[in-house]
Amino acid sequence: MADAHDHDHVHGEDCSHEHDLLPLADEEAGGCGPDCRCGQPRTALVTGATAGIGHEFARQLASFGWNLVLVARDEERLTEVAEQLHQEYDVAVEVLPADLADPARRAAVAGRVASADQPVDLLVNNAGFGLKQKFLDNSFADEQRMHDVLVTAVVELSHAALGAMAERGHGGIINVSSVAAFVPRGTYSAAKAYVNRFSEWAHNEYGPQGVAVMALCPGFTKTEFHGRLGIDRDASAPKWMWLEVERLVSDAIKDFEKGKAFSIPSKRYKALVTASRVVPGPVKQKLQGLGRK
Ligand SMILES: NC(=O)c1ccc[n+]([C@@H]2O[C@H](COP(=O)([O-])OP(=O)(O)OC[C@H]3O[C@@H](n4cnc5c(N)ncnc54)[C@H](OP(=O)(O)O)[C@@H]3O)[C@@H](O)[C@H]2O)c1
Repeated sequence: MADAHDHDHVHGEDCSHEHDLLPLADEEAGGCGPDCRCGQPRTALVTGATAGIGHEFARQLASFGWNLVLVARDEERLTEVAEQLHQEYDVAVEVLPADLADPARRAAVAGRVASADQPVDLLVNNAGFGLKQKFLDNSFADEQRMHDVLVTAVVELSHAALGAMAERGHGGIINVSSVAAFVPRGTYSAAKAYVNRFSEWAHNEYGPQGVAVMALCPGFTKTEFHGRLGIDRDASAPKWMWLEVERLVSDAIKDFEKGKAFSIPSKRYKALVTASRVVPGPVKQKLQGLGRK
């Protein structure tokens, strides 16, 4: 690739960056490095890409001309989504069926993320689910499975991505967290708080090396998430709290392009997150029931 490209230029002069999303190379540091991939089609790997937020990331990225690697458990559904996106947007779409709670399948996805031959330019760590019952009503195995998908997979895939991207001096990671990270709501919110702190640290640590990292913290969003838990959307939280997935993702992409460490959707949720910093713990504890009925 290095032979085929003139490296005297810096990003922004000869390169096409429309919908690149990723940060420009640092001109003071000499612009494009030897592994420059500008002008090449970009590839994003999205976990949990068959439904909800992950599916919408895959769709919007495909609409910008990004090639995709799609990860989820249900292989038939993955193949259907891949064919739809390929036909609609004329991009290359690979499928990688994996249960991210399974160490061997997680390692296979990490291997794909780290590939030097077929680089992944953007990792979207999105797959996730919640547990309807409270901590002591769940088996530890269920808690462990949730932790493995929400935390272990995020860290393992980020480890693979950051290594490859920092070496190339270019890349990005979006970790789908939750506004639940800002309130005590059991192990789900603890897992998301981990994702927030990890993402913020990685943003500061690897940003200077050309890797953009952002945590997206959705509020209640209309996806399959609550249906999978048998939760009635209308009964569980007031209407004003529900976000549309298209807007959530397009705003997140804009925040990512601006180089933000966090994307918090809508004025209402920004206000709630600000309030959560001053609201006393016992009051926050009373929010336990929201989104659970
Ligand atoms: N919706 C909300 O209100 C909300 C709010 C805050 C944060 N979030 C976060 O947003 C992310 C996406 O949630 P969503 O609302 O889009 O949920 P969703 O509509 O239920 O979609 C979940 C996706 O994750 C995949 N998935 C689930 N378990 C998996 C596993 N073990 N291994 C691999 N893939 C798995 C599912 O496919 P398969 O079933 O085929 O595996 C599906 O593609 C999650 O991290 C969630 O915590 C959601």
